[in-house]
Amino acid sequence: MNIIIAENYQDLSEKAAGIVAEEVKRNQQAVLGLATGSTPEGMYAQLVKMFQEKKVDFNSVVTFNLDEYACLSPEHAQSYHYYMHQHFFEHVNVRDENIHIPCYNDKNIADSYLEYDRMISEAGGIDLQVLGIGGNGHIGFNEPNNYLHTHTHLIDLSEDTIEANSRFFDSPGEVPRQAVTMGMGSIMDALKIILLASGKNKARAVQGMCTGKITTNLPASLLQLHRDITLLADKEAASLL
Ligand code: GLP
Repeated sequence: MNIIIAENYQDLSEKAAGIVAEEVKRNQQAVLGLATGSTPEGMYAQLVKMFQEKKVDFNSVVTFNLDEYACLSPEHAQSYHYYMHQHFFEHVNVRDENIHIPCYNDKNIADSYLEYDRMISEAGGIDLQVLGIGGNGHIGFNEPNNYLHTHTHLIDLSEDTIEANSRFFDSPGEVPRQAVTMGMGSIMDALKIILLASGKNKARAVQGMCTGKITTNLPASLLQLHRDITLLADKEAASLL
């Protein structure tokens, strides 16, 4: 695992944006796997700036987001659809038809989620996957458990995650209890992965991810098995390494 320790959040965001922009310059038709959460906000802001300065062009890029809450409409201010448009898509030139974000299917037909993986395969697979990490070591919404799913699926969120994400909602009761997420197999299939981690509350998960035993109880630890993964952490998130 390649580890880059950034000076601070701004530095982390610039470095992450630099890696994404390099990938897109190298391959204008790059397939990007994208993450949400507070951590990559600075990266998206940097990418928007680079686009405005004509340093990067997303015209032929294809994107697949990692996850989405169940039962929130795409217009809901806390949905990941809304987040992606607000922080990124509205400000750059990714074509609408090239944007993919998982969608909840209220009949919960498991097969319909597999369609998302099929679309990723048809696009040629993910070239660069951007990830964050939950304080409990979750990746996307793959929560710690005795087993993990390979493909995109519907998942019950853990109490830890509901509590951590309640900061975005008016009350914990409003946090959705379920989400649709790419599975660990879909994520591990990406050719290259960068994982962004910022802040002290991520230090233990980052430690487990880099130096702990590989276990489904810390989904990020599975990333030790990936051939091309870079951890991009600020000093606080890297403090236990
Ligand atoms: C969320 C998302 C993840 C994200 C993680 C960390 O629940 N599903 O994709 O990486 O938790 O979020 P944050 O960056 O806000 O700490």
